[in-house]
Amino acid sequence: MAQLNLAVLISGSGTNLQALIDACADADYPAQISLVISNKENAGGLDRAKKSGIPTLVIRHTDFNERDEFDKALTDALESAKANLICLAGFMRILGVNFVNHWRGRLVNIHPSLLPAFKGLHTHKRALEAGVRIAGCTVHYVCTEVDVGPIIAQAAVPIMPNDTEECLAERVLEQEHRLYPLAVELIARGQVHIVEGCTQITDAATPTMAALINPQLKND
Ligand code: GRF
Repeated sequence: MAQLNLAVLISGSGTNLQALIDACADADYPAQISLVISNKENAGGLDRAKKSGIPTLVIRHTDFNERDEFDKALTDALESAKANLICLAGFMRILGVNFVNHWRGRLVNIHPSLLPAFKGLHTHKRALEAGVRIAGCTVHYVCTEVDVGPIIAQAAVPIMPNDTEECLAERVLEQEHRLYPLAVELIARGQVHIVEGCTQITDAATPTMAALINPQLKND
């Protein structure tokens, strides 16, 4: 099967980008990264890409008057790179309807909550404030509504007594780094199908039936 050409869009430190770079370094992994785009020139992820010899591009949203013009510049760059899957990895710009419709089914995002809970920003702070006992992360296809779209994969982690936003974020991020490469691999291998707004995954490993219960059951 031909390798999937990824483009990764970032705005920040790029630890999820790094997880994808590391996955792609394995000869058996069915994808490669052909371009990293940042809307911020000081995004730490740009150095990560450069260190791995991946082409980078900075497209500053502030250089455009209209959202659509910025989005068009992104699409032009992505098409030149022949990207066939766009991975948003901490990309802090809302993409316009035209962009999302153009790339629909080829545009995925990682979000640090168990969607549909806690869409938007400050997910860990809000999870702690809401008093939930289980947090997590989601990889999903992108729709025009923010943090909505067919869910591809999710990972759950417990919230610990005395958790802070920072230590919860760290615990979730560790799982993000496992989840994003898995989701991309499933797509690259043609195992993910969108059916009536949800995904069906074929030939995936069966999850263990052990539930994550928090607090832990006695004697479990
Ligand atoms: C991650 O928590 C991701 O879920 C969210 O933005 C953060 C990006 O972190 N969308 P990094 O730049 O990949 O380290």
